[in-house]
Amino acid sequence: MKPIDDTLFPLDAEIPPDARLVAPVEQDEYLLGGALRRWDGPRREVFSPVCVRQPGANASGAQETIVAPATEVDGMPGAAVSAGLFPVRIGSFPDMTAAAALEVIEAAVVAWGQGRGPWPTLSVTERIRCVEEFAFRMTARREEVVRLLVWEIGKTRRDAEREFGRTLEYIAGTVNALKDLDRSSSRFLVEEGILAQVRRAPLGVVLCLGPYNYPLNETFTTLIPALIMGNTVVMKPPKLGVLLHRPLLDAFRDSFPPGVVNTVYGEGKQILGPLMASGKVDCLAFIGSHRVADLLKKQHPRPHRLRCVLGLDAKNPAIILPDADLDLAARECLLGALSFNGQRCTALKILFVHESVAASFLTRLEAGIDALQPGMPWESDATLTPLPEPGKVAYLRELVADAVALGARVTNPGGGQAVATYFHPAVIFPVDARMRAWREEQFGPVIPVATFRDIEEPVRYIVESPFGQQVSLFGGNPATLSQLIDPLVNQVCRVNLNSQCQRGPDSLPFTGRKDSAEGTLSMSDALRVFSIRTLVAAKDEAVNRRILGEILRRRSSTFLSTDFIF
Ligand code: G3H
Repeated sequence: MKPIDDTLFPLDAEIPPDARLVAPVEQDEYLLGGALRRWDGPRREVFSPVCVRQPGANASGAQETIVAPATEVDGMPGAAVSAGLFPVRIGSFPDMTAAAALEVIEAAVVAWGQGRGPWPTLSVTERIRCVEEFAFRMTARREEVVRLLVWEIGKTRRDAEREFGRTLEYIAGTVNALKDLDRSSSRFLVEEGILAQVRRAPLGVVLCLGPYNYPLNETFTTLIPALIMGNTVVMKPPKLGVLLHRPLLDAFRDSFPPGVVNTVYGEGKQILGPLMASGKVDCLAFIGSHRVADLLKKQHPRPHRLRCVLGLDAKNPAIILPDADLDLAARECLLGALSFNGQRCTALKILFVHESVAASFLTRLEAGIDALQPGMPWESDATLTPLPEPGKVAYLRELVADAVALGARVTNPGGGQAVATYFHPAVIFPVDARMRAWREEQFGPVIPVATFRDIEEPVRYIVESPFGQQVSLFGGNPATLSQLIDPLVNQVCRVNLNSQCQRGPDSLPFTGRKDSAEGTLSMSDALRVFSIRTLVAAKDEAVNRRILGEILRRRSSTFLSTDFIF
């Protein structure tokens, strides 16, 4: 394993040319009403979690790039750890005011036109055409977006490419799901003497807020279905992972009618409260913490009018039973706990191992971690990379120190060592209910491991947890597993057998109970959450049959139609 010290980070000259940004992205525009508006106000600076070792070094290659010393960058994670490392400045974006954000949402309100705007009344075929046009234009910006994903959030090049590809597949899957939905709605029902056609109609203005760990994919898993169903949208990129949306602004502008997609930037506290308090948000799509979700919901003046689609906190456990295949369990737990450094809502965040196999399991888990390479996100063999969240390294150190003070130990070599923005994964064992790592969602590379003697112990943990997203069960006996599956499906929304927790494939429903989610997402479910069922009905009488027949023949309504979308 590479030493966990300053040399983990490159000298400027060591950054390969094909990994560099061409230049910092100085974004001074936002999308409002179909045009890129210039922002002349203050901007927020963006620093990469990637640091360079050379004072004054320049990752972008541009002479004027400012590279600020880690100790001087406000709130940079690990700022005090090493004075010789310099986070790379990669650009800036508008720090918008509440007034500016309110102007943006007004554009979405106008485009909605109280449900009478061109977009919400457009045919499904036409809306699909616009979304496909967007996907085409987005594909052309692949390299810029992927490279910014790498630099902004430290995602490995491999995973950044996957995120981009997965997002394009999600768009294609959404289009197919909408065609299916439309085909099944393209007919009349006759029920108890009533003729009716039932379809799904848009809700209004959707505020889309994605998370930093999948800033492209998870933002788009709400944005695209919201759009394609006929809603108008205000999108605010997550606090980290902002610049990567810049290359797509032109594609939004050129693919959709004016005001259908609008963007805001800046401090969430400044702009989101006023947007919610304006009462102009009809649907809130938010992926983040339940604390922030509650704050936002409460600010809406008519909460009963607000539809919420929320992906929230989770602390998914794994249970390793005595008869589990330990090689497989260790492999899946490693993936589950450390993919993108554990920064996934679906990550395995606590492992319960039966005491009879704990030692053998830990040996395998530690060997697995040892084989992982720390490095910079563009390095092909790197899986462990710097963390983008300010203060994250310090937080993870606290979690480990707390567990150690209460009797746990770090079992893997190098576990918990940190330098600047890098924190080496730490297995802490044995954890118990007194420790913060038992209950807090670490969202990072700390792996708390607890033992159990009686299966009731991990089951009670899940029942009493405030979260209810997923669980992973590792074992070989169908009878034992079935005894666990039946009670656990009423605690969480996905029970994974001998497999890590995960969201995908995106055609499967993704949701959670308790503090973990509201609403269900998948390519088809998302179309439902961003729409409402509405119908046209008439008594089955000659006059109505004649009128309906005439409307269909003349194709004079987009709603009342039996056309089949191919
Ligand atoms: O952060 C939460 C994501 O939905 C996780 O998605 O399980 O496919 O990595 P994933």
